[in-house]
Amino acid sequence: MVDMNDVLLVVSAAVLAAMWWRRCSKTGGVDGLPPGPPGWPVVGNLFQVILQRRPFMYVVRDLREKYGPIFTMRMGQRTLIVVTDAELIHEALVKQGPMFASRPEDSPTRLLFSVGKCTVNSAPYGPLWRALRRNFVAEIVSPPRVKGFSWIREWAVGSHLRRLRAEFAATGAVRMMANCRLSICSILICICFGAKIPDELIVDIEEVLKDVMMMTMPKLPDFLPLLTPLFRKQLTEARNLRRRQLGCLAPLVRARREFLKDGGAKNADGNTVVGGVEMMSAPGEAYVDSLFDLEPPGRGKRLGEDELVTLCSEVMSAGTDTSATALEWAMMHLVLDPAVQEKLYGEVVSKVGTTARITEADVETMPYLQAVVKETFRRHPPSHFVLSHAATRDTELGGYRVPADASVEFYTAWVTENPETWPDPETWRPERFLEGGEGFDTDITGTRALRMMPFGAGRRICPAATLGVLHIQLMLANMVREFRWVPPAGEGPPDPTETFAFTVVMKNPLRAAIVERRRGDLAAVAASA
Ligand code: HEM
Repeated sequence: MVDMNDVLLVVSAAVLAAMWWRRCSKTGGVDGLPPGPPGWPVVGNLFQVILQRRPFMYVVRDLREKYGPIFTMRMGQRTLIVVTDAELIHEALVKQGPMFASRPEDSPTRLLFSVGKCTVNSAPYGPLWRALRRNFVAEIVSPPRVKGFSWIREWAVGSHLRRLRAEFAATGAVRMMANCRLSICSILICICFGAKIPDELIVDIEEVLKDVMMMTMPKLPDFLPLLTPLFRKQLTEARNLRRRQLGCLAPLVRARREFLKDGGAKNADGNTVVGGVEMMSAPGEAYVDSLFDLEPPGRGKRLGEDELVTLCSEVMSAGTDTSATALEWAMMHLVLDPAVQEKLYGEVVSKVGTTARITEADVETMPYLQAVVKETFRRHPPSHFVLSHAATRDTELGGYRVPADASVEFYTAWVTENPETWPDPETWRPERFLEGGEGFDTDITGTRALRMMPFGAGRRICPAATLGVLHIQLMLANMVREFRWVPPAGEGPPDPTETFAFTVVMKNPLRAAIVERRRGDLAAVAASA
């Protein structure tokens, strides 16, 4: 016979278990947090995201439709507050700027590569960040520095065009992303070390850069630190990669130190080659020069070699993929749309002719070039989120609680996908940004209002936005003036499908054929290489 007490016990246990599951699986909407998708006990929404096997940005794009402008996701032990609406993003990043200007906790792997958050992008909002960012701005993007780096841009653009010619002659097509990455990276390396670096070393550095980006992508232990001991192998691999990175870059730091020690004097051979690289910038003009004497608060005395390598790597990793991605998308549209390509070519030639060097001042007189670049950033923002932010203390946004230990993720792609802000948002149309177009006076820094924000907004806005844009404009103007761009022989038009690879890039990387503008036929290209 069934004992009534046993039945009662089983039923009570089942009810309690159901209540526990409901309580544990509720992600948002509790304790004043924004609402969010229900998750599983302990792991929250983590495995729901992983099991979808698609980039996080697409998961967020769908959740935005259901949960609106601000929602919560619980990813293992981490709480993510996702903000998707232009007004709320503006409220957080600009109006309440300092409150949302910090960065969340980092995983052991990321801490290894940032030497304990000693970079501009990773430092928490405070004195260390302020000192590093102030130095970065003074040494890399201040007008005298940008002017002083002009030799680097001229050298890098020349090498870029030569590489394109050689590759086309050898293979019948050029790979846009690979070539642009290499050229942009070479500019940034030279900014850091003031030296002309041989192509083979640039390739090595760029490969390490890519591996570091892969290695520091969020992984399971980032969300479930409890599991870290199970991922020891990963940490060992990270340490090996860090050694490789130091192996590439530390010799450049040492060579520069040596050069400065001698006051930048020529050596016994009558040149400025130190450690196999030719020093081009005068003492004090390379980014690393400023770091030798820097004593940022919170790091003890002078920075060590480890930190110098880290701060220089930051410049390359922050600036390479972002700029190369924008260039690839812009060139894809120019290949797809010969009329726009001709219009751009016409503008460049009418301002500078077919042979003169294109300068920084020249691109400022080219509204169509600027419109092409802005429309590319609008339609294809290299990143669909800014870097993760964190509040400096528990606060509120949009009427919800935002705890200081949550990651605040700003999904910025929706700002430019929203048809209420941008009519026909899927269409790439540079004319939007010309006089009379709906984007003509758009403030790209988002200070007044947010209509696009490829560089973020507020305190943590990209400090090198103008430099990044300048590199893109100069490379585009030169590539379009030098060559006509068409699909490779026997291939159809480029495929605009996108995918996520650190930035949002073309799934099938752009390959194109080039026709020399000044000689007018493909055979001449082969002969000249
Ligand atoms: C043109 C391409 C570029 C794009 C689209 C871009 C975009 C961004 C974005 C979205 C952020 C994050 C803002 C935030 O967290 O709120 C950022 C931060 C940053 N970018 Fe850029 N960037 C570009 C080029 C560069 C270049 C060329 C450099 C270096 C020379 C650079 C250095 C940095 C640094 C140091 C930060 C961290 C700022 C901070 O946390 O205070 N970026 N960038």
